[in-house]
Amino acid sequence: MENFNGTDLKDKYLSFFESKGHKIIPSAPVVPENDPSVLFNTAGMQPLIPYLMGEAHPYGTRLVDYQKCIRTNDLDSVGDATHHTFFEMLGNWSLGDYFKEESISYSFEFLTKVLNIPVERLAVTVYEGDESIPRDEVSASVWKKLGIKDERIAYLSAEHNFWIAGETGPCGGDTEIFYFRSNDPIPEVFDPEDERWVEIWNNVFMEFYKDENGKVTELPKKNVDTGMGYERVVAVLEGVNDNYQTSVWCDVIKKIEEISNLPYEGNETSMRIIADHLRTAVFISSDESMIKPSNTDQGYILRRLIRRAIRHAKKLNIDINSNWEQEIAKVIISKYTKYYSEIEKNQSIALEVLTNEKIKFNRTLEKGLKEFEKVVASNVEEIDATTAFKLYDTYGFPIELTVELATEKNIKVDENGFKAKFKEHQEKSRAGSEQKFKGGLAGNGEVETKYHTATHLLNAALKVVVNKDVHQKGSNITSERMRFDFSCDHKLTDEEKQRTEELVNKWIQEGIDVTVTEMSKEEAIKSGAECMFIEKYPDIVTVYSVGDISKELCGGPHVKNTSELGTFKIKKEEASSAGVRRIKAVLE
Ligand code: ALA
Repeated sequence: MENFNGTDLKDKYLSFFESKGHKIIPSAPVVPENDPSVLFNTAGMQPLIPYLMGEAHPYGTRLVDYQKCIRTNDLDSVGDATHHTFFEMLGNWSLGDYFKEESISYSFEFLTKVLNIPVERLAVTVYEGDESIPRDEVSASVWKKLGIKDERIAYLSAEHNFWIAGETGPCGGDTEIFYFRSNDPIPEVFDPEDERWVEIWNNVFMEFYKDENGKVTELPKKNVDTGMGYERVVAVLEGVNDNYQTSVWCDVIKKIEEISNLPYEGNETSMRIIADHLRTAVFISSDESMIKPSNTDQGYILRRLIRRAIRHAKKLNIDINSNWEQEIAKVIISKYTKYYSEIEKNQSIALEVLTNEKIKFNRTLEKGLKEFEKVVASNVEEIDATTAFKLYDTYGFPIELTVELATEKNIKVDENGFKAKFKEHQEKSRAGSEQKFKGGLAGNGEVETKYHTATHLLNAALKVVVNKDVHQKGSNITSERMRFDFSCDHKLTDEEKQRTEELVNKWIQEGIDVTVTEMSKEEAIKSGAECMFIEKYPDIVTVYSVGDISKELCGGPHVKNTSELGTFKIKKEEASSAGVRRIKAVLE
């Protein structure tokens, strides 16, 4: 596409859908706040799951956004022309509003009228159906009506045209839009296997919910969830095959060329890895959750990304002690401040994270590499578990880095042995992260247990003071404080905060017993017990009640009587995401 500049794409997308009655919603944080089952948002729809499942969204039924996403499952592929750990997904949604016809028509209009893509360059796939879901003739006929020829429509199986994020959740058949990106003559007949056709947009018709047992049920409403990978579409439209040569990346690559004094050509892999990983690190460390490099969960991913970038900077002979990481990060930051206020606000934090982690790793990097070379020089075929663990524990080499170094030398690593050692070590230091997310609890200590019960009281109090439709959206507890996210369309007034606090304290003073019973999930719902995601619970559930004040599906543990809690104090009330407020509170 001539003269197309991808930097406009986000604005064009938002304004187009705004003109079609969609409300622009802000990108949710990249670390999901209410879904401990994933480390990062991996698709635009993820923060919208509760709404796709029927809850009313405060912005209405037509939504549009660009969402920060991180996928680390193919982190090792980063270094080629198209893979990224961080990417932005443009999406528009209908929550029980329009369905196939409008959705497809909007996509078609945007592509052909706003982006001026010639119809001849487009092809689509639609769902061929299965025993229970019929072939999607509706979508096919809409495409035909718009001018897509029969030969350009491929009917594919669930493997290609049924979309779900992971194993469970809202899902449905989809229609995918492809663009012919080569200068070759465009074939009449669309062959989805032909790599010259690239997928640019996915419109999912979300009608179902799949539970842990694989059972598929209908959602209360028919929704549309679409996703367009920003990086990929920009590359397609700017006519380049290498994403890192687009307007999204070229300044960053230029900076790396300048710092390393090397050309991109011939050094693509390391330059792409540095560019990609530093960008993701900037986004993780600027996120609201304030993740810092660590040895678990998101913090570990952050650490791995930074350390891998450092290793590749070293490969390019960049002076690690210079300010290279900040210089590159600043170019990255400057490209995103317009779109993400947190990138602007937290830039000094992100820069500090990069540099601190660099300093930390730099202390041991040289020695670790020497140790590694020593082992390689001894002509082994495999790095044993003890060495891999020493590289990890003493020299700070994430196991994945050791594997990458070893692969370059054509040797293997005893990864299973490493894992066993790692586990042994973890058990010893009792730092198992498995417990971490259980019921939002950081640990099961006495203090955390108190906070856990206080969470139920707060939930109940907000329903009395603010609105009976307040629902829990997430919680997180440490031994220092509790954090509670709840659905609410306004900032709490001082009076509301005060009354909530007073009510919780009243219940504490009344010394109410906390009781637990087991019952079937159905029975629990019937009895009006509160819960976040009913689908996530087993058939038999435990229900905790605080007198007749609160009744919640919950794994516990809780105190026996509210009198054990002390004094409840709200420290902060703030926005968490669209339509969700957050309270931080303590027990004194
Ligand atoms: N959720 C869909 C995807 O990620 C649109 O492809």
